[in-house]
Amino acid sequence: MARTSAQPKLFIPGPTEVAPEILAEMANPAIGHRAPECARLWSGAREGLARLMHTTGEVCILTAPASAMMEAAIRNCVQSRSLHLVCGAFSKRWYEIALACGKEATAIETEWGHGFSAEELRAALEAHGPVDAVTVVHNETSTGVLNPVQDYRAVLRDFPGTLLLVDTVSSMAGAPVLVDDWGIDVCLFGVQKCMALPAGIAIASLSSAALNRSAEVEHKGWFLDFLRLRKGNEKEQSPTTPSTAHLYALNKQLERIFEEGLEARWQRHADMAARSQEWAEGHGFSLFPAKGFRSPTVSCIERGTGPDFVPVLDALKEKGFLMSNGYGALKGKTFRIGHMGEHTLVSLNDLLANFDAALKNESSLR
Ligand SMILES: Cc1ncc(COP(=O)(O)O)c(C=O)c1O
Repeated sequence: MARTSAQPKLFIPGPTEVAPEILAEMANPAIGHRAPECARLWSGAREGLARLMHTTGEVCILTAPASAMMEAAIRNCVQSRSLHLVCGAFSKRWYEIALACGKEATAIETEWGHGFSAEELRAALEAHGPVDAVTVVHNETSTGVLNPVQDYRAVLRDFPGTLLLVDTVSSMAGAPVLVDDWGIDVCLFGVQKCMALPAGIAIASLSSAALNRSAEVEHKGWFLDFLRLRKGNEKEQSPTTPSTAHLYALNKQLERIFEEGLEARWQRHADMAARSQEWAEGHGFSLFPAKGFRSPTVSCIERGTGPDFVPVLDALKEKGFLMSNGYGALKGKTFRIGHMGEHTLVSLNDLLANFDAALKNESSLR
């Protein structure tokens, strides 16, 4: 499909580029959501997702944005008290969702650009526990910070009854996430980031502890009830009418992901992050996230001693490349490259070469 000038190449940290064969898959005819073909798509997707997430837990799918699954996790897993590790805009959103759901929510905030070590999680739980659940965003898209979620279960063993809820919206399929090994009770994500599908469905895996909690909690609402979703899964059906276009696309994309190989896919993302970091430092920019917390899927770059990037982002947009300015208070101070999904070192180098050309042009105008 030809692009128009209003459809630049997406190097923002999601939504990202969608492969032509995925778009073609979405053009399949509409099907009935109680038809065997839909059940085939539903079970195929759930099987592939379990393999992707490294889990034997219950895999649920919703036609909704990822924020709906964040709300579902709160409604189903928090009876009264929750603790939120906040290191950017999306981790803060989860805390706000808990407050909006009437929970007794506590946020532990760290300076943006930092994440939470296991020791910091322990200190937070000692200071504010007991809580029903702790929420963390694995890859905080607003700051390019990756949290060491793999280290958290060892801490949570000392706080029985505390569920671990993890947002992997911008890391799933771009970085290792081993749900069962890491002891994640609810692992959720959308599909518009490293999965490289158009936005529109949200996915979560649920541990048996999460399902048991859901059975105890009252007033979860109807649409986001994990037990209702599990019941639908028994028949390989969605309780409501799902986007079947997305189900076709998701099945196809999982096939493509396993063809590439998960480890190869993770490495491709790590290589793009390394290239972005090296390029940024070569321009006098600095990396916003502290060492040890840098994301493999989104690079958040601070101006530092580098040139003013704002006019360059505008010029790039004119040329058909869309990058992101900083999020919220970081606007004008940082910018972000979303090197995720279908992007490769080749497409990234093309972007960086165009950035350099636009920068040269901007400097000659001054
Ligand atoms: C880490 C993270 N969590 C949650 C969301 C919210 O996703 P959605 O817009 O699909 O609700 C985003 C969106 O960018 C995100 O990056």
